[in-house]
Amino acid sequence: MEVHETAFVTCAFRAMHEELSQDPYARLWIDEPIRELSQQYLQDVTPEESVAHSLRNRFFLDTLKHLVKHNQVEFLINFGCGFSMYPFLLPDTLKHIEIDLPNVIDYKQQRIDYWQKKNTLPQRDIHHIGCNFGSDDFSVLLEKIRSIKGTASSFILLEGVLFFLNGEQTDDLFNLFREIQAPNDTLGSVSFRQEDTGNLAFQRLLQFIKSVSGDPHAPVHYQTVEDTFYKQLPSYRLSDHQDFYSMADTSGYQPRHKPDMIINEQFYVLTRTS
Ligand SMILES: C[S@@+](CC[C@H](N)C(=O)[O-])C[C@H]1O[C@@H](n2cnc3c(N)ncnc32)[C@H](O)[C@@H]1O
Repeated sequence: MEVHETAFVTCAFRAMHEELSQDPYARLWIDEPIRELSQQYLQDVTPEESVAHSLRNRFFLDTLKHLVKHNQVEFLINFGCGFSMYPFLLPDTLKHIEIDLPNVIDYKQQRIDYWQKKNTLPQRDIHHIGCNFGSDDFSVLLEKIRSIKGTASSFILLEGVLFFLNGEQTDDLFNLFREIQAPNDTLGSVSFRQEDTGNLAFQRLLQFIKSVSGDPHAPVHYQTVEDTFYKQLPSYRLSDHQDFYSMADTSGYQPRHKPDMIINEQFYVLTRTS
């Protein structure tokens, strides 16, 4: 599975549960090959993944709605935005900077322009930036973000991306976030802890990635991040921490599978302190 395909698949999962994800636009991105790949994923890994991704989206959507309502955020800066549709799910007063690999961003911008011209999507203030977090110069990215945002307040989102990066790239990103943000700004991040990777569903996920990568013997490189990383992050305070189970509880969703068949991603919100 190529990295951009994971963005289509998470979209397909949100589209399967519009009531939970509250994302009526995710379905726009789904064509027959993506539908088939998502169904294959649910069959080979665990059927609970479509709900898990919908709950993840819902957590950040609700968090952002609350912050917008209380005038605490002017820009959503979505690092590794994929095909997520937050700009259209949130009030038009919020401005957006969407960042992803150049080919993903070009395709997203092109499709959004098309749907806006057809009035399928409402108009929003969105800036797109292509960047590879693994190789591009962050000083260039920082300048681009500053020239768009100035000193406005922001929520930075890093959803479904850390799995693909290494520790050094992660440190560089969080150092960049510190440069972008000011006290009281907020940051949302998603990752797996080591303890979340031991069960059957996670092992089936690794097997699935191998099987669709074309080389079933190639090792899968992925990153885990412990709670202590967020708790000890300089200049930030951990202000919320949820996971699949707590979000299922909040949303009134009764998990259909045992813990061995649930991939339990962790969702964090941090507030800039100094
Ligand atoms: C699983 S998708 C998640 C997309 C979106 N955040 C969501 O939750 O629907 C991972 C995203 O991270 C992006 N990504 C992965 N590695 C990246 C890198 N090195 N630089 C920039 N983007 C990257 C992919 O292109 C993809 O859009």
